[in-house]
Amino acid sequence: MKRKTILKAAVFGGMIFLVAGVAMAAYRPALNTGEELAYCDSKVKRALGELKDADGEIDYSMIPRNIPKDSARWALRPSCPEEWCSGFYPGLLWYDYENSGDREVLRHAKGYTDEVAKIVDKPLFDHDLGFLIYCSLGNGYRLTGDEGYRQKLLAAADSLSQLYNPAVGTILAWPRNIDMFGGHNTIMDTMMNLELLFWAAKNGGNPYLHDIAVKHAETTMKHHFRPDYSCYHVAVYNQTTGKFIRGCTHQGYSDASMWARGQSWAIYGYTVVYRETRDKRFLDFARKVTDIYLKRLPEDMVPYWDFDDPRIPEAPRDASAACVVASALLELSGYVDAETSARYLEASKRMLKSLASDRYKSNAANSSFLNHSTGHHPAGSEIDASIVYADYYYIEALTRLKRHDNGLAVI
Ligand code: GLY
Repeated sequence: MKRKTILKAAVFGGMIFLVAGVAMAAYRPALNTGEELAYCDSKVKRALGELKDADGEIDYSMIPRNIPKDSARWALRPSCPEEWCSGFYPGLLWYDYENSGDREVLRHAKGYTDEVAKIVDKPLFDHDLGFLIYCSLGNGYRLTGDEGYRQKLLAAADSLSQLYNPAVGTILAWPRNIDMFGGHNTIMDTMMNLELLFWAAKNGGNPYLHDIAVKHAETTMKHHFRPDYSCYHVAVYNQTTGKFIRGCTHQGYSDASMWARGQSWAIYGYTVVYRETRDKRFLDFARKVTDIYLKRLPEDMVPYWDFDDPRIPEAPRDASAACVVASALLELSGYVDAETSARYLEASKRMLKSLASDRYKSNAANSSFLNHSTGHHPAGSEIDASIVYADYYYIEALTRLKRHDNGLAVI
């Protein structure tokens, strides 16, 4: 071969190599939803095995809550009104049953759910009754139509409505903390408990439950956000006149900071309120609280526990907030114009892809799905840990994505 021909062939070959290299680098394989759900199922099976006693029985009254960094086993908490996370483990079992069809998982989902249902008959403790009952019995009812679950859900919604203060127009979050905050305290997390009220109003409950949920969302929209649409964790009101007193934090870095999970509750909460009202004010608001969150995310789409912690990038992450938002965006993307929809869908997929990487998955280390969530940083509790609500919203998001990919409604 002539020298010139050899040179040409070498240049051509080099170019092909370069183009292939660039294409490879840009190629990001899509999240394999089936594989991730199978991963969750394998973790559920491992956890259920670990939770069994010597006789092969599980004490359903003790519910997985977290796996601290230095531990490999779920720390259990009693199922009671004071323990706000009791609904998440049964809830994630329901999602795993929905995806796997495994009747053994169904048996355990029912076992835990029946324990959590007992909370409805106990004195009302605080606003978390929504989380407790809707994530557990709500999913149980959705999948089985069990009339007993429906009755308990309705009773829980009635009970929760007792915390509504008409002078303020919101649900009181923590009755025990009125003195501590100097008034009626509402927290952003309460937006998540409205879903139970909306559900009840549509399923045989008092229509008033819908109305107070809407009023709560309106009042919160008015007072609980800063001009940039980041939220306070807590809003304090005069319990007699309803006057807004101040916004502050309880679990965030400071009164002025954007606590990641608080903002994630706002995104999810306003998406639900729009679903249930079809009132465009709530859709616009859901978009605004979403956009400030997306704008401030780090490259890997999983937030630091508080967006304003000055120790960033050394500060711990909160994978749980990423799971909540990934799930919410799959729903919100169905309500907006095509361009925004594509943007939200892409953001959700990038969050899930990141969460599904070895950086966040617990893999062989323990029987949770994910590491790196932060519960209550100021109290020094559950920092950089596996936390049950991260797993709950992770499997919910994956289930929603699977439905979306199969051309089904995500909700
Ligand atoms: N207070 C509920 C949460 O930690 O998000």
